[in-house]
Amino acid sequence: MRNTFGRQAIPMVWDYAEANPYCSSSGNWTAMRDWVWKTIANFVPASIGTEIQHDAQSVPYPENAIISSDPPYYDNIGYADLSDFFFCWAKLSIKPIFPDLFGVLATPKSEELVATPYRHGGKEAAEIHFLDGMSRAIANMARQSSDIAPATIYYAFKQSEIKDEGISSTGWATFLQAVIEAGYAVVGTWPMRTEMANRMIASGTNALANSVVLVCRKKQDDADTITRAEFIRALKRELPPAIADLKAANVSPADMPQSAIGPGMGVFSRYKAVLEADDCPMSVKTALQLINAELDEFLNDLHGDFDPDTRFAATWFQQNGYDKGEYGAADNLARARGISVENVKHAEIIDSSAGKVWILKRDEIDPDWDPGTDDNPTIWEGCQHLIRTLENDGEMAAAELLKKIGSERAETVKDLAYYLYDVCGHKRQDAKEATAYNGLIAVWTDLTRLAATIHVTDKNRQTRMEF
Ligand SMILES: C[S@@+](CC[C@H](N)C(=O)[O-])C[C@H]1O[C@@H](n2cnc3c(N)ncnc32)[C@H](O)[C@@H]1O
Repeated sequence: MRNTFGRQAIPMVWDYAEANPYCSSSGNWTAMRDWVWKTIANFVPASIGTEIQHDAQSVPYPENAIISSDPPYYDNIGYADLSDFFFCWAKLSIKPIFPDLFGVLATPKSEELVATPYRHGGKEAAEIHFLDGMSRAIANMARQSSDIAPATIYYAFKQSEIKDEGISSTGWATFLQAVIEAGYAVVGTWPMRTEMANRMIASGTNALANSVVLVCRKKQDDADTITRAEFIRALKRELPPAIADLKAANVSPADMPQSAIGPGMGVFSRYKAVLEADDCPMSVKTALQLINAELDEFLNDLHGDFDPDTRFAATWFQQNGYDKGEYGAADNLARARGISVENVKHAEIIDSSAGKVWILKRDEIDPDWDPGTDDNPTIWEGCQHLIRTLENDGEMAAAELLKKIGSERAETVKDLAYYLYDVCGHKRQDAKEATAYNGLIAVWTDLTRLAATIHVTDKNRQTRMEF
């Protein structure tokens, strides 16, 4: 026995189960009644809201309204049709209380912004109805947005689209373009994991967040027009500090491309237009590609801050992963960084024999590694040992190790995790290894919080402070 709307449709099923209203098993009368009173008992009296029904394409917003909208997405859900299921029953009981709302036969359909082919005479006409209507609704918001707070609009990604086309996917670019043409400047994009309660590390996935909150402000009337070269210069100036802020906020590497779009689009949509060499306005899709290229450059540049052993390991890993490579090639790579292969071997990052060199896997490194007693603790070791400890011994043990690594070096360890995630994702196509680095950043806030509760009693022993 279960609810009718297991998904957002009324399924046609050929068999059914009937609950005995007098028993105590699932679906019984008293259990159903209890769900209702428990919900009512938990209503918070202070949070009384007012609801009005109005078409978003023409609704007059109150002055200084703060707009936050979760619009429908193409043909995902037939809200009005599904509402009729309840409407006919609700009408019987509460029509005297809401006479205007229930004065009609069924829920309003014509203004509904859903791309329903059977209502609009075909797929193409349905899509036009949806896109035009959505543009009108967003323009209506932009016109009436106040300056006191930005508007927020939710956008749900189709995972398949992102998988096939990446971050500049057609659906997303079309939506962003509509928002900008409606008169908004997009000043932020915050990824949200709305449909996955378990943590990324537990589910072991690099899946992108499924929704993004667009933060929008009304575009200035006197906005300038700039060239492609000027746009790229502005991106190079403004994106790195914005990405550094996202990194400081521990936005996970998998979410970084979506988050970086915000500040990048902030630059793009600040202007009336960005003109290409042929004087045509740049499309949002091209802008997204340029923003992504800047992010890539930023992540690449992190390499410069690593110690020589780590720089060697990062480059070697990019070329060979955990596979064996020629000693001669390793020798050249090490010399270019002012070190020798033997130095890196001594640091227990790599091993070598019979003319071959390879990086030690996390299950091959010394589980008792202590940065306090290691005469040359490297960022590479810090990162790999943290992941190993996190995966094998849990967050508390990883927090203890983080404490020993020290807050200053920990920041560079975090940079390496971002860098290696990018290497795994773009250059090595190794999703499993990428998950390890994503997982580390996903719990970074918790680890640093836990590490702060650990009290160092002497050089080699630490205990957790009691509160
Ligand atoms: C993604 S849902 C919002 C869900 C909501 N955030 C919640 O948690 O219940 C989109 C909503 O937009 C409504 N909608 C569709 N066309 C509309 C229109 N023209 N004007 C106003 N609302 C509309 C749908 O009925 C649906 O309730």
